[in-house]
Amino acid sequence: MEIRKYTYDIRGDERGNLVALECMKEIPFDIKRVYYITDTQTDVVRGHHAHKNLKQILICVHGSCKIGLDNGKEKAEVLLDKINEGLYIESDMWRTMYDFSEGAVLLVLASELYDEADYIRNYDEFINYVNNK
Ligand code: TYD
Repeated sequence: MEIRKYTYDIRGDERGNLVALECMKEIPFDIKRVYYITDTQTDVVRGHHAHKNLKQILICVHGSCKIGLDNGKEKAEVLLDKINEGLYIESDMWRTMYDFSEGAVLLVLASELYDEADYIRNYDEFINYVNNK
């Protein structure tokens, strides 16, 4: 499976780090929604769903976590542990988020507003959906 990771410039100086992200430059879609995940326990697995249309960029802006990807044919695991690394997740991709380090903050930039109808939350349904496309 092709993993699309972006590495962003860190505009840091002696005062600290700054990473700037602009639509259609660093982010390959118009951002309609931003959310972030914090205080997730190390033994918790989040996600367990796919999206029919939504595209996302995930950046672990503090600490680290792992992202499990599954397109119905292949699986992959991606470690996110850099403030300037974005993982692009296409639609039709089953994802899990796990192994959150203490204090990890996962920032998610999304191409669409929240829409429960866009979710596939059952794995068998996901496999049927991608196989019938
Ligand atoms: P959930 O989909 O369970 O999170 P994860 O993908 O990390 O497993 O979302 C948790 C709750 O937050 C759930 O009640 C839906 C709600 N939610 C929103 O209201 N808006 C959003 O943009 C997102 C991502 C979730």
